[in-house]
Amino acid sequence: IREQTFIAVKPDGVQRRLIGQIVQRFEQRGFRLVGLKMVQVSEELLSQHYACLHRKPFYPSLLRYMTSGPIIAMVWEGHNVVRSSRMLVGETNPAEAAPGTLRGDFSVHISRNVVHASDSVEVAKKEIALWFQRSELIEWETCD
Ligand code: CMP
Repeated sequence: IREQTFIAVKPDGVQRRLIGQIVQRFEQRGFRLVGLKMVQVSEELLSQHYACLHRKPFYPSLLRYMTSGPIIAMVWEGHNVVRSSRMLVGETNPAEAAPGTLRGDFSVHISRNVVHASDSVEVAKKEIALWFQRSELIEWETCD
């Protein structure tokens, strides 16, 4: 079965007009976009998405940040896409993210880190099921 991952452009990425550059990195790497939508996300969905973080001191501000504007939710598919996407996106803390990664190039603070990428194949499956209906994912092939 083909590997898929959930990638989101967080509200700061949308507000800073970074959608195109972020999508471009995944396209140029050779991954296949199989789902994409713009969403103003609810606190209910975020509370499921961030189920492990409810007790963290930064959780209330994380909720405010993630609901501060629309998010671009995407599913990308390809060989080792989960691991490769984490490398493309860079460390959670932008101070530790290498130049050339999305966070290393576009962000400075952990609470405004521009992009989300699933951290394992198992988590990717859960996140895709949480954010997308099956009918919103489109399988397609190149015609050559
Ligand atoms: P991400 O890894 O996509 O999902 C969890 C998010 O919580 C993370 O990105 C950051 O945006 C945020 N986060 C993690 N640690 C901190 C922290 N110490 N302070 C503020 N936000 C954090």
